[in-house]
Amino acid sequence: MSKAVPSLSLRASGRVPKYWGKELRAVLISPDRLRRRVRELSRQVERDYAGREMTVVSLLTGTVMFLADLIRHLSLPLRLDFMGVSSYRQGTESRELVFTKELRLDVRGRDVLLVDDILDTGRTMRQVLAKLRKLKPRRIRICVLLDKPARRVEKVRADYVGFTIPDLFVVGYGLDFAERYRNLPFVGVLYPHIYQGETQPQEPKSAAHADP
Ligand code: IMP
Ligand code: MG
Repeated sequence: MSKAVPSLSLRASGRVPKYWGKELRAVLISPDRLRRRVRELSRQVERDYAGREMTVVSLLTGTVMFLADLIRHLSLPLRLDFMGVSSYRQGTESRELVFTKELRLDVRGRDVLLVDDILDTGRTMRQVLAKLRKLKPRRIRICVLLDKPARRVEKVRADYVGFTIPDLFVVGYGLDFAERYRNLPFVGVLYPHIYQGETQPQEPKSAAHADP
């Protein structure tokens, strides 16, 4: 389980590469830091799942880079599958989650590791968990790269957390804003003007979150 999760602040952030300088105000997590921390998470997972075959269930699309780096260091037998989820803004608060890709593997009686990019309000995770539980896995553990506890609405906690971050909208290393920035090798903080006056950057009017 995660112990001593690094807690990050904007003050400790690094300089933005010139190409991204107009859009990003800071690099919150450098490629090197990501690499080292994800390795640590792999080691924790490996210890906890030793002797068992795990089924990794990863949520599309934000997990691409994190997932690849996490599982390449797992010396364990594992099966991998994906679930697609999209959230659409409904009115001001409630958001309905739509499943865009169902699981292909049978998880009944299995040890599932559920992987997501970031735990924010917790709404996505709560609904995904409810759906997964109906498939009767033996146990489900949750692994997220980032945790933004300040925004939590649902009572959900992750078993493995890469970094705890402040209430900032972050992009890169798989995470997007309006489907952009997923390819950045670091986690960066967007300038507010990129949201075009949105007061709630996590819930833009566009389909920016159409693919968590
Ligand atoms: P939740 O349902 O509010 O916990 O949100 C989870 C999903 O929202 C994540 O899987 C992300 O796709 C997206 N999200 C939340 N915060 C951020 C952020 O700071 N940057 C990019 N995506 C985010
Ligand atoms: Mg997203």
